[in-house]
Amino acid sequence: MKGGGGDRHHHKDAIVMHAAGKAPKCKASFFLCSLLLYFLLPVLALYVVALAVSPFYSGSSCPEESLASGDVAHLAAAGDAGNRRNDSSPPSDDAAPTGLGHIVFGIAASSELWKSRREYIRTWWRPEQMRGFVWLDKPVYEFYSRNASTGLPGIKISGNTTKFPYTHGRGSRSALRITRIVSESFRLGLPGARWFVMGDDDTVFFPDNLVDVLSRYDHTQPYYIGNPSESHIQNLIFSYGMAFGGGGFAISRALAAQLAHMQDGCIDRYPALYGSDDRIHACMAELGVPLTRHLGFHQCDLWGDAFPTVILARD
Ligand SMILES: *[C@@H]1O[C@H](CO)[C@@H](O)[C@H](O)[C@H]1NC(C)=O
Ligand SMILES: *[C@@H]1O[C@H](CO)[C@@H](O)[C@H](O)[C@H]1NC(C)=O
Ligand SMILES: *[C@@H]1O[C@H](CO)[C@@H](O)[C@H](O)[C@H]1NC(C)=O
Repeated sequence: MKGGGGDRHHHKDAIVMHAAGKAPKCKASFFLCSLLLYFLLPVLALYVVALAVSPFYSGSSCPEESLASGDVAHLAAAGDAGNRRNDSSPPSDDAAPTGLGHIVFGIAASSELWKSRREYIRTWWRPEQMRGFVWLDKPVYEFYSRNASTGLPGIKISGNTTKFPYTHGRGSRSALRITRIVSESFRLGLPGARWFVMGDDDTVFFPDNLVDVLSRYDHTQPYYIGNPSESHIQNLIFSYGMAFGGGGFAISRALAAQLAHMQDGCIDRYPALYGSDDRIHACMAELGVPLTRHLGFHQCDLWGDAFPTVILARD
């Protein structure tokens, strides 16, 4: 106690002494003090104001997206093309709102199950309005017929993946070609592509909901949007940070470009993974892009034999 009181006294003295020592110093350099007060400070204030109104300072240009979806990745992504339409730069294609035509679908399918699975796709595919392809291991009838009235997406045959290692004991090598669908779709170079949306052949999309969701994100930023499984066990086995392809997931053009650049090397680095989604996830980890969760991407993983439908339905 005593020591404490003494300390306080000493401290008080020290403060006074400090102030007393400062005042004469300031008087001595009166000119410098005036300079600081009447010149430097106003200039500094002006600078701050100028910076705040400058078009280069876009600290508050958050997209119109409601924060309700709480996407950390989104908050981290700066800028939004939509807020800069009146800038001196000419309006680019990127300024228009995202529509169905900006999405490139990539449907993972197999020639073996094609005859039954194509009927799932027919339920939601709009041939006149949508772009994308079904990616198969080998050609099927529709691949040759080139008949536009099939009501189905065009068919592409996945690239040869024999050169990639696959060491998982129980999985299938088809994971290798399926995981490359986003990269292969990107390399098609379709004009105006903003989003690459992956789904399985039994994934059912609600196109308008999908557009509604994606239009809230900036495709010029790297986004990996999807959702984990509804099965805790599945998420433990794979990851809560992984998008399950059965529920579909979306990759922005900016991210697809990065992925296409590194994915083959990435596949080489993880030969022991099981499937295609975890291979995408591995590349996302290397690229430093976390999953942006949206509940609309929904993989139905009820254990037992539930109807294998996966739906993009927004509440
Ligand atoms: C952008 O410019 C257009 C005309 O070029 C104008 O009508 C509009 O109000 C402007 N928007 C903003 C946010 O200044
Ligand atoms: C295209 O397919 C439709 C229905 O599947 C069929 O009626 C039509 O004859 C086909 N056209 C050609 C050119 O094969
Ligand atoms: C894939 O490539 C390997 C060699 O890398 C070749 O032996 C094989 O025939 C190819 N498969 C197809 C379907 O082209």
